[in-house]
Parts: sequence; C-alpha cells; structure tokens
Amino acid sequence: MSSEQGFVVWFTGLSGAGKSTLTEALAPELRARGRRVEVLDGDEVRTNLSKGLGFSKEDRDTNVLRIGYVANLLARNGVAAITAAISPYREIRDANRALVERDGGAFIEVHASATLEECEARDVKGLYAEVRAGKRTGFTGIDDPYEPPLAPEVTVPTGSEPIAASLERILGYLEGRGLITPARAAAAEGAR
Ligand code: ADX
Repeated sequence: MSSEQGFVVWFTGLSGAGKSTLTEALAPELRARGRRVEVLDGDEVRTNLSKGLGFSKEDRDTNVLRIGYVANLLARNGVAAITAAISPYREIRDANRALVERDGGAFIEVHASATLEECEARDVKGLYAEVRAGKRTGFTGIDDPYEPPLAPEVTVPTGSEPIAASLERILGYLEGRGLITPARAAAAEGAR
C-alpha cells in the first residue's frame, strides 16, 4: 500500500529559516493522516545523538550523516521521518538521499529558502547578533558555506510566506506523490 511507504522529509536551510517551526507544524498533520511520525531536529540531536560535535565541516558531516542514518532506519519501517538540520553540504544530503532510496524509502528534500537577510532580521536565537559582534565565527551563511539544493522536491519561501502556506505546499506535494492521503479521506477511512 503506497500510503504505508516510509519516507523522509529532509528540511535544509539557514539557521532561522523556519525548519523547526515547519517540522512542528507538519508532524501533527501527518499524524492526522494516519502516519507514524518521528522528528529529528538539529538542536535536539546535538544534545544527545551528536553531543560533543561542533561546527567544523567534519563535525557537521558526521551530524548530518547520523541524522540520515536514523531517518533511514525509521523510513524503512514505514515511519514518516522529518529532519530539521541546516545540513549545509549538498554531497552529504545526497548521500542520505541515496541511502534512503536504496532501502525503498522516499526522500523529500524541502528547501526552507529564506535569505540570510530574512533570517538575520528575525534572529530568533540572537545568534546572528553575536556573529556580527565578533563573538562567533564559522556561522553558516556568513563565514561558513551553505550549498542550496539544486533540485529539491519542494521549495518553501519561508521568508516571504506564512507557515500555513509553506505547510500546504509540502502536504500538497506529499499527497501528489501518494505518500499521504488527503485529510478528509484519511478521516473517512478511520471511521469505516
Ligand atoms: S548542521 O550544520 O550540523 O546541520 P545543525 O542544524 O545541527 O547544523 O545546528 C545548527 C544550529 O546550531 C543553528 O540553528 C544554531 O542555533 C546553532 N549554531 C551554533 N553555532 C553555529 C554555527 N557556527 N553555524 C550554524 N549554526 C550554529
């Protein structure tokens, strides 16, 4: 049954682009459509699975590959795994894609494409201010690379549209791929 196929929604984008917010909005929507969902959020992963890792390229690659490894374990057991890490390097994201697809899961790369200016203007965590004050270096998008995806399944312009609109784009894409059933149909099935 196609609706039981596991998949990974892989958010990528700058710090403050809205990856975590979208993840929190998406998870309950998928559950409402009958999917089992797990979330791997960058900040949370870094307090447990990737505790001790920093922000060198090597450490970021290790972090992002770990997230991909776990997301794949989940997806190949029918779970909808949502990940929210900057995941700045294209090659590493593509390695995760290859892993998931090899094991029969769908890999949906979602680019939270807010510009640096938009992320910095929001500065939810106050980190951009610290970077500009010279208290932080090697920050993604400022003095550390961010390689945007070349062909993401979905692009959400989170700097210029409300969360609800971005959410609709993602849900619409997943429905179009047959990975989830529309909310109303899912509710009707449950009632049967
Ligand atoms: S990743 O590069 O390894 O994918 P991850 O998403 O886990 O990054 O962590 C990014 C978060 O760590 C940012 O949202 C921010 O809160 C924090 N952070 C601390 N230092 C940095 C840095 N040098 N570059 C980017 N984010 C940083």
